[in-house]
Amino acid sequence: MTRYDIGVLDDFTTGTARQLKVAGRILVAVRIEQDVYILDDRCSHEDFSLAEGEVNVGTREIECARHGAMFRLSDGEPTSFPATRPVAHYVVFEDAGRLEVEVP
Ligand code: FES
Repeated sequence: MTRYDIGVLDDFTTGTARQLKVAGRILVAVRIEQDVYILDDRCSHEDFSLAEGEVNVGTREIECARHGAMFRLSDGEPTSFPATRPVAHYVVFEDAGRLEVEVP
């Protein structure tokens, strides 16, 4: 596992999704208040970018804009059909105000 710097908290807008490219991977980052969640930017139902979806701040989920599957930001598990498989999620660390994502 290697950690990659992804900026500071204020680089992210709460309640919105943003695509990130890290170490050859395409990821989606979502900030909700003081937390930043990172998943693979690829729906597990079909190959579609989750960064285009809406974020549900209250339930901390992201909705795939293509067919409406919801994924829990904390672990990438689907919470509604048509997705049945999780999306990979990555741990975010804070070090002296910088955010780092750990990827294999
Ligand atoms: S591609 Fe995401 S729900 Fe179908």
